[in-house]
Amino acid sequence: MSPQSEETTMTSQHIHPAAVIVLAAGAGTRMKSRTPKILHTLGGRSMVGHALAAARGIAPRELAVVVRHERELVAGHVAAIEPEAVLVDQDEIPGTGRAVQVALHALDATRGTIEGTVVVTYGDVPLLETSTLRSLVEAHTQAGNAVTVLTAELDDATGYGRIVRAGDGTVLGIVEHKDADEGQRAIREVNSGIYAFDAAVLRSALGRIDASNAQGELYLTDVLGIARADGGRVAGLLVQDRWQVEGANDRVQLAHLGAELNRRILERWMRAGVSIIDPGTTWIDASVELDEDVTVLPGTQLHGTTVIAREAVVGPDTTLTDVVVGEGAHVVRTHGSGARIGAGASVGPFTYLRPGTVLGEDGKIGAFYETKNVTIGRGSKLSHLGYAGDAEIGEYTNIGCGNITANYDGVNKHRTVIGSHVRTSSNTVFVAPVSVGDGAYTGAGAVIRKDIPAGSLGLSVAPQRTIDGWTAAKRPGTASAEAAAASTPKTPPAHLPEPQESGQS
Ligand code: UD1
Ligand code: MG
Repeated sequence: MSPQSEETTMTSQHIHPAAVIVLAAGAGTRMKSRTPKILHTLGGRSMVGHALAAARGIAPRELAVVVRHERELVAGHVAAIEPEAVLVDQDEIPGTGRAVQVALHALDATRGTIEGTVVVTYGDVPLLETSTLRSLVEAHTQAGNAVTVLTAELDDATGYGRIVRAGDGTVLGIVEHKDADEGQRAIREVNSGIYAFDAAVLRSALGRIDASNAQGELYLTDVLGIARADGGRVAGLLVQDRWQVEGANDRVQLAHLGAELNRRILERWMRAGVSIIDPGTTWIDASVELDEDVTVLPGTQLHGTTVIAREAVVGPDTTLTDVVVGEGAHVVRTHGSGARIGAGASVGPFTYLRPGTVLGEDGKIGAFYETKNVTIGRGSKLSHLGYAGDAEIGEYTNIGCGNITANYDGVNKHRTVIGSHVRTSSNTVFVAPVSVGDGAYTGAGAVIRKDIPAGSLGLSVAPQRTIDGWTAAKRPGTASAEAAAASTPKTPPAHLPEPQESGQS
């Protein structure tokens, strides 16, 4: 289903790196958040989740993630996404160089000495794509480089490490902003922080870096100069698409990157045959799957593992999380999660689908309905105003307006089971546990406390009392009393049939 071809066009020519090391030990204080920076989300995925997805795409033999700040939260999150990843704890010695030192040491110690290409990426650069990492590894291995660094040209390079090149363009090294002189600060080509290293070169150079710099940190960037001094080839690969190397340090940047990610996701789906009427008000998570000829109307948000089949129409103003929508179904102004909507079914407007809702083919859940943990058979309709929870409804049953499953006795939840071809009248309350057989009916306002056998009518009628002249006696002088006084009795002529109860079908 996914049009993301980059994951599927792997050929034997692709060189899998020995390892990817994702740096994620930093504090991220500018988020001003109790949540660690890299656990903040965009496109329905944490920043580190995006980094891991990009890394996984190049199928490294080993994947290591360096953690320190909020260690337990980050480690738990990473382990849930990538159980195979090696979690490496950085010690109190600061710097990107230290982070890679501890990671390489941990990999060497637990997986045997790493040989070949080692890729380093950051946990807070969420738009980086697998295809870019693949190009980096290919350029690196094809040229036989010691180090290849991904670079970008920025109008304002403040804060970044600058790529220092010789007159012939060869990369001499990286100088950090804080260590750079005026001439170096004029350089617009910056270090993205994403690199491919030869493992042996990396190991050797990391053994020789020190903290004699403006920040008193072990810089990974010093590896480039050392590798070059050792006679290795050091190259830079310029990325044209700057978004891919942009990091998020605060919530403003996160929102900015989130909007761009969304724009890219929408464009990808439109190119794959999905109609998105208003990309400006549509948000689709990276993990959502859409078929050809799906239509997404304005104001729609699709999250999580939502999957929408061919020719379904979703929206306007609909939010679906982990919802499966069948072929040709219509879902209008609905808030749903953990639900399955059958092919040809219709939902909405103003419908709240809670987890465990399963609507059969050609079924209907109409306006102002809330459903939870309910299985509704093919062709059955719950058209208006009600609640169906902890229930099972057969096929081609019509649930009348305002029906409620009273599923909760204050302590426990109980099930309501309703058969096929049942017709329930308005305002029926099912006091669970209770069951209604196939082909049964209920009367208006029935409170069903006892099972109704197949083919029976369930009523709970209390005789109506009418007190003549009550309004004049009890509400004298009101508009109602005046209207009553002025009215002539409206009794239908005997030869005409009784007017039908205002109908719900
Ligand atoms: C780093 C680069 C700089 C580059 C910039 C791109 C160095 C010395 N500088 O600078 O050349 O232009 O990234 O964004 O590498 N991290 C750890 N442990 C640490 C320090 C950092 O894991 O001890 C991680 C952070 O979580 C982050 C990444 O490494 O994901 C970069 O750290 P950051 O402090 O942002 O580096 P910069 O100083 O911005
Ligand atoms: Mg940074």
